[in-house]
Amino acid sequence: MCGIVGYIGKRPVLPVLLGGLEKLEYRGYDSAGVSEIVNAQFEVMRAEGKLAKLKNLLSENGKLAAGENKSAEGVNIGIGHTRWATHGRPSETNAHPHLAGKVCLVHNGIIENYVELKAQLTATKCVFKSETDSEIAAHLINSHIEQGLGLFAATKTACSEMQGSYALVVMSLSEPDKLVVAKNATPVIVGITPDESFIASDIPAILEYTRDFYVLEDGDFAEISRGAIKIEHEGVAAERKPITIAWDPITAEKGGFEHFMLKEIHEQPRVVMETLRGRLDQEHSNVHFDDVFFSDDDFAKIERIVIVACGTAWHAALTTKFYIEKFARMPVDVDYASEFRYRNPLLNDKTLFIAISQSGETADTLGALQIAIEKGAKTLAICNVVGSTIARRAGNIINTQAGPEISVASTKAFVTQLVAGYLLALKLALVRNTLSADELANYIDQVVHLPKWLTAALGQEDKIKDLAQEFSKSFNFLYLARGLLYPIALEGALKLKEISYIHAEGYPAGEMKHGPIALITEETPVVVVLGHDDGNYEKAMSNLTEAVARKAKIIAVTDLENAHLSKLAHRVIAVGDIPSQMLPIVLVIPLQLLAYYTAICRETDVDQPRNLAKSVTVE
Ligand code: AGP
Repeated sequence: MCGIVGYIGKRPVLPVLLGGLEKLEYRGYDSAGVSEIVNAQFEVMRAEGKLAKLKNLLSENGKLAAGENKSAEGVNIGIGHTRWATHGRPSETNAHPHLAGKVCLVHNGIIENYVELKAQLTATKCVFKSETDSEIAAHLINSHIEQGLGLFAATKTACSEMQGSYALVVMSLSEPDKLVVAKNATPVIVGITPDESFIASDIPAILEYTRDFYVLEDGDFAEISRGAIKIEHEGVAAERKPITIAWDPITAEKGGFEHFMLKEIHEQPRVVMETLRGRLDQEHSNVHFDDVFFSDDDFAKIERIVIVACGTAWHAALTTKFYIEKFARMPVDVDYASEFRYRNPLLNDKTLFIAISQSGETADTLGALQIAIEKGAKTLAICNVVGSTIARRAGNIINTQAGPEISVASTKAFVTQLVAGYLLALKLALVRNTLSADELANYIDQVVHLPKWLTAALGQEDKIKDLAQEFSKSFNFLYLARGLLYPIALEGALKLKEISYIHAEGYPAGEMKHGPIALITEETPVVVVLGHDDGNYEKAMSNLTEAVARKAKIIAVTDLENAHLSKLAHRVIAVGDIPSQMLPIVLVIPLQLLAYYTAICRETDVDQPRNLAKSVTVE
């Protein structure tokens, strides 16, 4: 959950490292540090807090002006890290890079047997300065170098002694023109140009330098020198081809918006078009997925579907279940990846296992996918990052085409996950013949119009800004909905919690009377998400009335306003007449905006909310 970068080349190191870390800060932001080799010594600078603090420190010390810091003829070399604390509180001492003798390294992951290793190393007189597990790796590698091994061999030997997850970038004074990278269960990519080499946890960090990346596999060790990479896997040299990413570096910038989150909310009509591009055949009422390799026959043999995800992606999983059940009439189970993976789940070759993940690196989702593979299920990933571990391991992928999502709170990735789920449900309906030709044509036609409805929902922004102002001092929010809109209520509540730090609960509206109703007072805003024609309207209205009877202030988020609703609700956000199947995808936009503007009123750190990280690569 941390971000790591490395650089070897002719440029001054610090701007490259800091620029990369800035784009990785979403992965963790409680402390940061950089190290470069200057005059045959490590020069390390670390700071508690966000990257800006480190930058100030470097600037105060005149480090950003220098640039003449070659460690060997023509080679500038350095590593950097932005941290999300696992072992040891956020502090300058616990920040990376960590030093031990001739070794300096950055680490993302968890070394599970660190207590045992620390005891062994302490017995050999190693002195530890931090409370981290990562410092153990530095001492282990250094001890192997002292015993005569080269940096590459020392790193491999140390990794064979460590259990857990790691992406390590290791630098040594004994070989000052090289970086060694080790990867296990934590992502790391390498970009090589003719005379430079870049290492990072994620693509946007180095996208301005190259679009071709080597995606390292678990168990890989790479020796990186200026403009060159050698990869070894299980002791044998591995030939790998770089993948090419089409993302434009500009898409990873804020583009005039105050926050990435707002920019990403506004990108939704466009990215949905990208998700649909080339996948719909309106003439023949068909749906195509380029990277899904199941035949129609394979699809038809599937008896049951299991969808596994975490957080926001879990809400997309729940919506996808509703789409599949409605269109394809198949049984679908949805599970939290962290629960699924530890209970010996029932799967076989007639099960389609779907992992939904924006990053494609979430440790629990990856663990669940691994179990599905071992049990012989057919596997498919709905994922936003083509070269990610989950995408590669699943073998079949519906790439959500949202482009890089930088804000920790997921918005555009979620909406594209819903679209992917919708398309998959139509595909299953098609092969199973569960919809009439007219129904199928109609559902395909609806999704084609989706971008314009998303744009209409964005048109409510000013109204939502006012609403946020009015309720930003509330202590509790309740979000209620039924049926297909229920996962959207959950997502609205999660978004508000994540970035405004207001407590919010999402509930199926019919469940309110079984407990949560006790929370309602005249101080409680209750957001009710409902559609006039979704088969649940009357029932949702009854639940809304029950909340009104307890003096709740209702914020109705809906398609069409009517006199009855306007009378009962304190405020109504209506996005216009939209088919009920499309409503989950459209009505989440007002909820994203409500969370965003509430957070703005409360002056929180919208893109990097406290305690969170974008890519949760630990269990
Ligand atoms: C969303 O706003 C969250 N930050 C979080 O719940 C996220 O969706 C979850 O961690 C799953 O991430 P993934 O999609 O990258 O697997």
